[in-house]
Amino acid sequence: MAARPRLCDRYRRFLPITDATPRLTLGEGFTPLVAAPRLGARIGVANLHLKLEGMNPTGSFKDRGMVVAVSKAIEAGATSIICASTGNTSASAAAYGAAAGIEVAVVLPKGAIALGKLLQALIAGAKVVAVDGNFDDALRVVRSMTAASGSRATLVNSVNPHRIAGQKTAAYEICDDLGRAPDVLAIPVGNAGNITAYWAGFTDYAMAGIVETRPRMHGFQAAGAAPIVEGHPIDDPHTIATAIKIGNPATWAGAVAARDESRGSIDAVTDDEILTAYRNIAEFEGVFCEPSSAASVAGVAKAAASGAIGRDELVVAILTGNGLKDPDTAERTVAGRIVESDASEAGVLKALDW
Ligand code: F0G
Repeated sequence: MAARPRLCDRYRRFLPITDATPRLTLGEGFTPLVAAPRLGARIGVANLHLKLEGMNPTGSFKDRGMVVAVSKAIEAGATSIICASTGNTSASAAAYGAAAGIEVAVVLPKGAIALGKLLQALIAGAKVVAVDGNFDDALRVVRSMTAASGSRATLVNSVNPHRIAGQKTAAYEICDDLGRAPDVLAIPVGNAGNITAYWAGFTDYAMAGIVETRPRMHGFQAAGAAPIVEGHPIDDPHTIATAIKIGNPATWAGAVAARDESRGSIDAVTDDEILTAYRNIAEFEGVFCEPSSAASVAGVAKAAASGAIGRDELVVAILTGNGLKDPDTAERTVAGRIVESDASEAGVLKALDW
């Protein structure tokens, strides 16, 4: 295993890992940063890269923080973990909890979780409770359940600082791969932990003298669930991007600080813009991400059109989760595209219109 260390070992100097911390891993991190010239040309930026966080073990960036949060929970003697989720956090908690041999409970908004994510939690043996309410309601419940000291379970939502610590590693990887920090970091914003973690990660690297600059942070919320853009909580958020369907982000202040300290922005993109980006990412670069992830690219397209991102800037867009998690959105997007034929060469040629 010498060639590919564990994520927690690679960046140990920046993480809350000690000799007493259990060595848990599912092989998280080390995700590809790929150049996206065809997509970039399409949306008006010449130097676009995509960070494929859907390549993590459970198919989303959550694994970076979950490995640290679960390791630290076990180190502290916890025997159970709990979270609220729009799907990916619960899939990740279920997997790492299973690998660690501890009890996992997840509280989800009923009917609002992409199918793949729900199945990931169930197959790993997590206890799944679907509540009549949205993500913000679910988070309120699990926070109050774990608020008392001596609570039986450790909360592994991104309000747990170990989650944010682990998620910083994606920023380190980007700088290590590029040999510098990008000019612009484009990222979807939901509960706002991830944008906060990236900014902290870039700041760590700048403070350590590993990079000279930090990127402008451009965060993007879905238009029907854009509390930070609108400046107030949204009671009934709505968007097809279910992972970021959040009306009252827990790390709101962190996102605002990242935006302001980096002279970036947090803007909204419509569901139509998200779905266009979702298709373009697959059709121009061969990358299948989930709809929420496409908010980053939708945002780059919008900001390039307005001039907020310059044509020649080095832009990294984070694709936070794997497209296979949400088969229903994919199916609706490609409906009617299969052409049928009898099993003959002539039939297939005709069907293909070749
Ligand atoms: N993209 C995906 C695919 C996500 O699952 C999430 C958040 C985000 C972006 C936004 O990240 O919350 O740190 O601003 N998903 C959480 C969950 C809320 O429960 O899986 P954030």
